[in-house]
Amino acid sequence: MQRIIEYTDDGSSTLFVPELNEHYHSVKGARAESQHVFIDMGLKYVQTACPRVLEIGFGTGLNAFLSLTAASETGKKVHYTGLEIYPLEWDILTKLTYSGDPTFRQIHAAAWEVETEIGPCFTLLKKKADFTEIHKGNGNGRYDVVYFDAFAPGKQPEMWERQRFDYLYAVMNDGGALTTYCAKGVIRRILQEAGFVVERLPGPPGGKREILRAVKYPI
Ligand SMILES: C[S@@+](CC[C@H](N)C(=O)[O-])C[C@H]1O[C@@H](n2cnc3c(N)ncnc32)[C@H](O)[C@@H]1O
Repeated sequence: MQRIIEYTDDGSSTLFVPELNEHYHSVKGARAESQHVFIDMGLKYVQTACPRVLEIGFGTGLNAFLSLTAASETGKKVHYTGLEIYPLEWDILTKLTYSGDPTFRQIHAAAWEVETEIGPCFTLLKKKADFTEIHKGNGNGRYDVVYFDAFAPGKQPEMWERQRFDYLYAVMNDGGALTTYCAKGVIRRILQEAGFVVERLPGPPGGKREILRAVKYPI
């Protein structure tokens, strides 16, 4: 799949995929979107001191990078699993605006399929896997936070099917939260059918009007 580097309104880079006519992030601000949707509304929302995070669509590693920064700031000990079917080449990663940061480089230097400690507050597990092939029983562990960062439902509908959210609900701990940039009514309803209590929250500055947070409450 071809990927083209583009610059978004907050100065941070993203990737454009011509084949899908889709970007990895919001063109209104990649970094601002990641920070708001996943770190501020997801990671910082959960109360646990040692949250286990699952990201669907590891991509450029921007969400992992911002999570590591948040972990260092808050003192939370984050265990982070990033799922990705198409890991990116160094050649592309080194051209991203934040690629000069030593922490960002450590994230990408970490081997796939191996739990790697990156500093005292962050353990990373990058898994090369197809999310649509993971079913109850063959995932690993339980999660307090899910960053649902797949390409849009119109581009990759198979990532947004009910059974995917049934799986995520099953592997999340009570009190856990899933966030996504997509606030479409159809996705909100699928999340509710899967058992989540879903909130619509304001979107990132200059970006989408609303985003979703789906919480798993004890039954
Ligand atoms: C919107 S981008 C994610 C952006 C990423 N979180 C970042 O910060 O760069 C969607 C990601 O999902 C990945 N992806 C697509 N299909 C997938 C699948 N079936 N299983 C796992 N990952 C998939 C893509 O390769 C891409 O990296």
